[in-house]
Amino acid sequence: MRIDIVTLFPELCGSFLHTSILGRAAARGLFEAHCHQIRDYTQNKQRQTDDYPYGGGPGMVLYAQPIADCLRAVQAQCAQQGRAAPHIVFLTAAGAPYREADAKRLAGYDCLTLVCGHYEGIDERVIEAFADEELSIGDYVLTGGELAALVVADSVLRLQPGVLAEAAGYEDESYWDDLLEYPQYTRPEVWEGRAVPPTLLTGDHEKIAAWRAERSRARTRARRPDLYDRWCRTHPLAVPKWKRGEKAQLARTAAQLGQAAAICHAAWQHQRQELCTPEYLAANTPEAFAEALARDRARGWAFYLHTTGDEPDALVGVHRQSGEISRLYVLPQRQGQGIGAKLLAFACKKILADGTVPWLEVPSSNTGAQRLYRRMGFVPTGDAKALDGAPNLPGVPAPALLKYRYSAKE
Ligand code: ADE
Repeated sequence: MRIDIVTLFPELCGSFLHTSILGRAAARGLFEAHCHQIRDYTQNKQRQTDDYPYGGGPGMVLYAQPIADCLRAVQAQCAQQGRAAPHIVFLTAAGAPYREADAKRLAGYDCLTLVCGHYEGIDERVIEAFADEELSIGDYVLTGGELAALVVADSVLRLQPGVLAEAAGYEDESYWDDLLEYPQYTRPEVWEGRAVPPTLLTGDHEKIAAWRAERSRARTRARRPDLYDRWCRTHPLAVPKWKRGEKAQLARTAAQLGQAAAICHAAWQHQRQELCTPEYLAANTPEAFAEALARDRARGWAFYLHTTGDEPDALVGVHRQSGEISRLYVLPQRQGQGIGAKLLAFACKKILADGTVPWLEVPSSNTGAQRLYRRMGFVPTGDAKALDGAPNLPGVPAPALLKYRYSAKE
């Protein structure tokens, strides 16, 4: 690949491209980089590159002519080398947002030319005449396009074969799979009282990969909900197959309803133990859940009990008339085995069969459940209300109750 940077500060750009990993890669001939001084293409005695803006206003605007002539020189050099015409990118704060997907796309060009603006801008006519695209590296304004051009150059060049020591180097990094990277650690095992997460020391590659995947998802959800939403849409959860001896049946008898209440109690206590006061937890007895289930049944709710080899271990409530799903509870010791996903799919199927759209509410603190819902096709509606007025432990913010609605995939 050949990369050209058109700038008022070619030394600055050149020193970056000839340092460290990129410097070594350039020395090995893995790419060719050229930085061009716009001033060398001026036609006035003072070698002036900019002027006042027509219409007034602050700052100076770069002339079209020196940039155009510099770009023509780059085009001629590429042609002389028998290369394709360069793909020309202007870096400006008004450009389209630059992302890893653009880096991958730009890495496919044989010749890439990056034009750096300065001061208040560039005469629009040279952008119209030469730009294949105009990119911005973020929602902030820099004093010039050099840092932006170097960001683009760096992110594109590292994707060139051989630039990174290991091909895997860029395959599992942030953004590659639309998720942020998991945290990394190196020696010593304990640094200033902080230990490396024990899973990473087990040598169990499957466990380590699962831990990293989980940290990536949790980080992305917390820091970049936009990326996380997209990831959930593109990575729907494959609902596991029902195993032999596993079934869901309508809880009808007093014994079944008692089992359902016991599951609600155990799972609810587990979910709320770090949020609510011990008094509040103690007041919510299995009997209190049994009464609540009986009240709900009188209001049209049906509760399905999930059993594995006749052992009840999960529950889901379905209100077919309204489409609401509630009380999706799995015994704490049976969580993480796909039972929740199976029961949720089961409940959705029942509601969809009636031509109704499933929906549910979930405490904002229950992030695991929200992940499951999103990956199963539920999207937040934006509606939120206070969660059942539960008294929280001191310092624990009151969670909200968020509404999610099932949305069939496009
Ligand atoms: N020039 C000034 N600000 C910029 C930005 N955010 N991205 C690209 N070029 C710029």
